[in-house]
Amino acid sequence: MLKNKQILIIISGGIAAFKALEVIRLLKKEGAGVRAILTKGGAEFITPLSVSSLTEDKVYTELFSLTDEAEMGHIRLSRQADLVLVLPATANLIERMARGVADDLASTTLLATDKTVMVCPAMNVEMWEKPATQRNIETLRKDGAILVGPEAGLMACGEEGLGRLAEPLDIMEAIKSFFGSAGKPLAGKKIIVTAGPTHEPIDPVRYIANRSSGKQGYALAEALQKLGASVALISGPTSLKAPDGVNITRVETAEEMLNACQQELPAKGFVSVAAVADWRAVETATEKLKKQGDDTTKLSLKQNPDILKTISQMADGRPELVVGFAAETENLIANAQKKLISKGCDWVVANDVKIDDTGGSVMGGDENTISIITSDGIDAWSKASKIAVAQKLARKISEYLGVNRDK
Ligand code: CTP
Repeated sequence: MLKNKQILIIISGGIAAFKALEVIRLLKKEGAGVRAILTKGGAEFITPLSVSSLTEDKVYTELFSLTDEAEMGHIRLSRQADLVLVLPATANLIERMARGVADDLASTTLLATDKTVMVCPAMNVEMWEKPATQRNIETLRKDGAILVGPEAGLMACGEEGLGRLAEPLDIMEAIKSFFGSAGKPLAGKKIIVTAGPTHEPIDPVRYIANRSSGKQGYALAEALQKLGASVALISGPTSLKAPDGVNITRVETAEEMLNACQQELPAKGFVSVAAVADWRAVETATEKLKKQGDDTTKLSLKQNPDILKTISQMADGRPELVVGFAAETENLIANAQKKLISKGCDWVVANDVKIDDTGGSVMGGDENTISIITSDGIDAWSKASKIAVAQKLARKISEYLGVNRDK
């Protein structure tokens, strides 16, 4: 699959550098040509000789090397690649990339390249979570970089949390899906994504809502769009900006959300990330409701339409892939499995929305731990940022629609 593809791998200085060797081995096995730049820091962790034995090429280390510049200048090095892979990407290199620094071979090549850059961060959890790092990551993302990982788990420093390099096989999957149809495997395919909460009015000033921020749905819309899909994002009220290139329709209520989704059909895929309010007021008061003197009051509610179920059970023109999310606070997998059947969708993405020990929650937070439930079984993913989850999920959707394309 990667025959005739040329990958430039930039290995910066982190303990995860040794995993770059495994990725190089896998890339070569798939037929790719690999050139490597090893930063000074990277060379503290792995030797140029081990890199060069695997790439079967020299290893580039110096910006001002007469021999290197004569053989393959840094501009050519950056241009001859089909993809530039930064693995591991340390907090330091990420920060310099975000600022556009060019003071060594790695940073200069990154600034000079006209190719897509795939960034695989790896660092300590505190470093990853610092607002400064998150700002830099956001800048890289806006600049068009593809981010793979990081994942959560036990780190070399002994701490546990988000910051571990994505697994080599996941990185390979990301590279392969980048090259599928020149990085746009979902080109020509329309996908509808719902996101955010819905607001169900009680009177002109009050409404029923929930804690959904819309972050996971927006991140998924963006990841699908980057894989070439034509994305219709139907969003409840959020404070988020629509991702570039995504067609957004903003709605308030569940009924409006259902209507907007139906307007967007037909589509190849439907992903129901929104936390749709289950209930709405039987009647919306036209004037602000006044206190009646009693301590308690009653509000009559009726059930909202189930958007996911309606689309899953369409007799004609049902999207090829219908994905639901299950927000649960207990019995996560069992409840998600029930939803797979009761809603009639193809996959359920189960996420635990209980408030954790630190007072944080998936709802409104930046991280997510999900399991994908299908009729074939359960695929449990480790905790990752909502952006990383979205990218991995988008690749999975793309693979499914690719395989199913001709059915
Ligand atoms: N959903 C929907 N329309 C609704 C309610 C839910 O489309 N009126 C979708 C959500 O977008 C999500 C899935 O159904 O993809 C499951 O949502 P969730 O809130 O977890 O479940 P509910 O169906 O509301 O069931 P319950 O509240 O009983 O757990």
